[in-house]
Amino acid sequence: MADLTVEFAGLNLMNPFMLASAPPAANAEMIKRAFEAGWAGAVTKTLALDPAIDVQPRLARLAVGNKTIGLENIELISQRKLEVWVKEIEEIKRDYPDHVLFASLMGAVVRDEWDSLIKQVQEAGVDGLELNFGCPHGMPEKGMGSVQGQDPTIAGEITRWAKEVASVPVMVKLTPNVTDIAQIGKACQDAGADAISAINTVSALIGVDLDRVEPLPSVGGTSAFGGYSGPAVKPIGLRCIAQLAKGTTLPLSGIGGIAKWQDAAEYILVGASTVQVCTAVMFRGYNIVEKMKKRLSVYMDEKGFESVAQMSGHILPKITAHEELDFAHKVVAAIDQDLCTKCGLCYTACQDGGWQAIEMDSRQVYPRFVIERCDGCSLCTHVCPVDECITMVPL
Ligand SMILES: Cc1cc2nc3c(=O)[nH]c(=O)nc-3n(C[C@H](O)[C@H](O)[C@H](O)COP(=O)(O)O)c2cc1C
Repeated sequence: MADLTVEFAGLNLMNPFMLASAPPAANAEMIKRAFEAGWAGAVTKTLALDPAIDVQPRLARLAVGNKTIGLENIELISQRKLEVWVKEIEEIKRDYPDHVLFASLMGAVVRDEWDSLIKQVQEAGVDGLELNFGCPHGMPEKGMGSVQGQDPTIAGEITRWAKEVASVPVMVKLTPNVTDIAQIGKACQDAGADAISAINTVSALIGVDLDRVEPLPSVGGTSAFGGYSGPAVKPIGLRCIAQLAKGTTLPLSGIGGIAKWQDAAEYILVGASTVQVCTAVMFRGYNIVEKMKKRLSVYMDEKGFESVAQMSGHILPKITAHEELDFAHKVVAAIDQDLCTKCGLCYTACQDGGWQAIEMDSRQVYPRFVIERCDGCSLCTHVCPVDECITMVPL
């Protein structure tokens, strides 16, 4: 069986799966249950010198049919006092010495704040620190979170301070709400960071309640921009990890929309060596990890990857500049008429959003593909509701 153990920033993990800093890692009791369920590590809900007070409610979702594809939160950092956390970190490490525990920390751009936080959690026994430069709501107004991760000078400066007092690895958690995440990652690497995690949530406004005529999530009628997570943000997370893998040489922890083993595999293939999960655990619980571990390992065996380290970044050379793509690669759409339901979706899409290369008459005969007009865009394959009915084939 493929080896799922990972060496990450000098720490040894039993597998690449960690809880992200979020509600599933809100206290010792929860983190210990997650370790029992099979998670190799956890990052605590973010700690600061002062605990937060949250609004209610603070979540709203985007669903397609009944399926949630994205979640927005306007939750702040931990509501619990630092001294409570310090005791619980000691307890977690006493009971689970072989699991990896990162403390997620947040402070203002004030050196003493970071020094104090780091010394306290380190003394309690954490294995690593995650500096939260990513939270996009609430905290930036106080000079914390994503405002720090949006400025390479500030992110670098805080990383440097942290490295001077840290005796454990320092990971920086970056925000996707920037023009060039690799530039921020590089600044942190130059300042001595040992690892990078990405992404924190994507700044968003999830929607408007049209009956009440209020923004969502509505806190008694008003709302604020929040942080978007879940399956919908995976493409953004994958792009960020690939950019960080190309722009830095640090170990990477991939986060954003991981709910299945396939998502974890994708993050590893573009450069992550550990992955972190929040929204999928909030919706489906800690036990999702068991299947993710098993199926990831089967996939690695099938593809001949002996270890996560060997698999990490494997497809990076295949992510090129657009101008380097093969413009001579030509394909056209082909339909399997045995599978076609004559729904006409491909016809409409090609008529109004493509190349008018599909013909279909009012008698609802099968759509006819006119190869000479097909430009190979593939739109018809994405609107067709039947798997493998329309495929792109070499010209
Ligand atoms: C309700 C909620 C609270 C969160 N709180 C924190 C936090 O305290 N610190 C932090 O670094 N990230 C926090 N996050 C962000 C997650 O750790 C993670 O980066 C993000 O949700 C993307 O991963 P996912 O798609 O698996 O949820 C929070 C996310 C959610 C949904």
